[in-house]
Order: sequence, then structure tokens, then C-alpha cells
Amino acid sequence: MDEVRLRPASLADYVGQRRLKRKLEVYLGAARDRGEALDHVLLYGPPGLGKTTLAHIIAAELGVGIRVTSGPAIEKPGDLAAILTNSLEPGDVLFIDEIHRLGRVAEEHLYPAMEDFKIDIVLGQGPAARSIRLELPRFTLVGATTRPGLITGPLRSRFGIIEHLDYYSDADLAQSVTVDARELGYGLSAEAALEIGRRSRGTMRIAKRLLRRVRDYAQMAGEEAIDASRAKLALDALDIDDAGLDRRDRAILGALVERFAGGPVGLDTLATAVSEDRATLEEVYEPFLIQRGLLVRTPRGRMATPATYHHLGLSAPPSQAAPLFSGEPESRA
Ligand code: ADE
Repeated sequence: MDEVRLRPASLADYVGQRRLKRKLEVYLGAARDRGEALDHVLLYGPPGLGKTTLAHIIAAELGVGIRVTSGPAIEKPGDLAAILTNSLEPGDVLFIDEIHRLGRVAEEHLYPAMEDFKIDIVLGQGPAARSIRLELPRFTLVGATTRPGLITGPLRSRFGIIEHLDYYSDADLAQSVTVDARELGYGLSAEAALEIGRRSRGTMRIAKRLLRRVRDYAQMAGEEAIDASRAKLALDALDIDDAGLDRRDRAILGALVERFAGGPVGLDTLATAVSEDRATLEEVYEPFLIQRGLLVRTPRGRMATPATYHHLGLSAPPSQAAPLFSGEPESRA
């Protein structure tokens, strides 16, 4: 049997991102009323927040087809031409994930396709080469990226709708996994749902993954209703702590505090100490730790904060614990 997909089919079933949803309802409704293709949409934000899901919902709400590809899959202009000329019907959505990784030449061919719904194709090579212009159906490009800073100005300016996705609240994640649990054939208590939400780092993809693993534990225990204690036991077994940190996160913070006295320590040194490569530490682990105030980047290197010590159950050294501004010097007994 196919695994249950756990993906909402309509905007109404898409949890959270309320501001974005309110705007999209207007844009989708207006385009539908006019009988036109929706303007091109750029969705950006951290990984795992549901950008791909939203692209599918946009197509479903418009009642059109969707073609899915990604920036790295489009290397040559010919790859782009093949997608645009082969399978797009008027009004269809073309979804390009990781659009910041589109090759430069392919990107330049995308401009006239987005703007004028035309694409130039070069036939032959050398002096005999000639180019023909093909008309395309009016389509909607939905681009998604985790790195909006890498999108060039000319590409960005061709999107009529540019929207950011935010991290989810624990309650939104809880609401979503409650629905998903039902799809999987399990009951999930409100407290259990919130426990999963709390440990999911504000990230929908993580919440869905944790739900499936908690479900595995419930299944092996012969339970069809998941309560808070089952959820906690399973999440503890997965080594995910109350703040959503896993073993690797804690190893990084532990090294920072115990081996480097809380820093400052250089990125390379810290990476070597935890047997991780520099880029993974910087791009995969650090953003969440920084966002939660458990690590700071300073010009002299990475540093722990009082919250780091607190999280690890340690007392902060005097220099970390001292208030930044103290009034009267305290006399110590
Ligand atoms: N399921 C329900 N809401 C969702 C969302 N916002 N993103 C991804 N999947 C979802």
C-alpha cells in the first residue's frame, strides 16, 4: 500500500501561515474570476515549511495541472525549453524548487518565457545555427527558495507575488499532526500533539516525521490512541529533547561549553571538535541554535550564552552569568 501522503489538498486545510493564506485567497479568487493565469509566485523561507505543498495547493485551487522540477535539474536552456513546450496547458503551474540553483543561461531564457510567454530555441550549431521563437501557453511559474539572497534582481522582478513562509507555532504544528494522525488511523491526544509540536523546531516537515516515528512506537506497543506519555517516551527514545534539539545539537553545545569554556572559538575548530564539516555546522546546525539564543556568532568566534548553560543543565560561569549592567558593586560575603 502507498504510504499516506499527509499533504493537504486545499488552502482551507493548510494549517498556519495565516497572513499568506489571506493574501493568496484574494489573488487566487481574482485570477479565477478573470479567467486568467495567476501571476508568477516566488515563495521563500527555511526548508520544511511547506513551500512545495503550497505550490500543489495553488494548482488545485485554480483547477489546473502542475509540472514539478528544480533548479539543479535545469542545466541547459534546452532542458527548460523541453519542459515549457512539452506539457504545459494554458493556466498550468510550473513549480521550480530551489530556483536559486538555476543555471545562468537557463535563467536568461526564463525571462522572456515569464514575461512574454515566448522562448527562443537555437537549432543547429556553428555558422548554420538559427533560432526560432516558440509561443508558450500562459502559465504560472511558482518558484521556491531557501536562499532568496541568491536570486538575481532580474529574476526576482519578474515575480508578481513574492511571499515569505514563517516558522510555525507549536499549536499550529499540533493541529496539523492531529489531522495527520487521523489519516494514519491513530488517535492523538491534545497533549501528545502539543508535545510533538514543541519538539519540532517550528518546522512542519519535522512535525510530520516525528509523528510517524511516534506512531511506530504506539504501533509496536499495540496502541491505537497516542497519549502524552507514549509521545514523550517515543520522543525521548528518538533523543529529541524538550526544545527539539537532537544529539548532534547537544554535542555541539557541549563541546562549546566544556572544551572551549564557552568560546569564543573559531568555526573550523568547533567543527573539527565535533567531527563535522564546516559548511554543515554553519548551514544545518547553527541557524536553529542561533535562532533559539543557544549560540552566538561574534567577530572572534562562536560563543555560548547563559541559555546554553541552562539548556545543558549546567550553571553558567561568573562571566556568563553576570548581568551586562550592574548597579552598585555587590559586596560578597
Ligand atoms: N498540512 C497541514 N498544514 C500544512 C502546512 N502548512 N504545510 C504542510 N503540510 C501541511
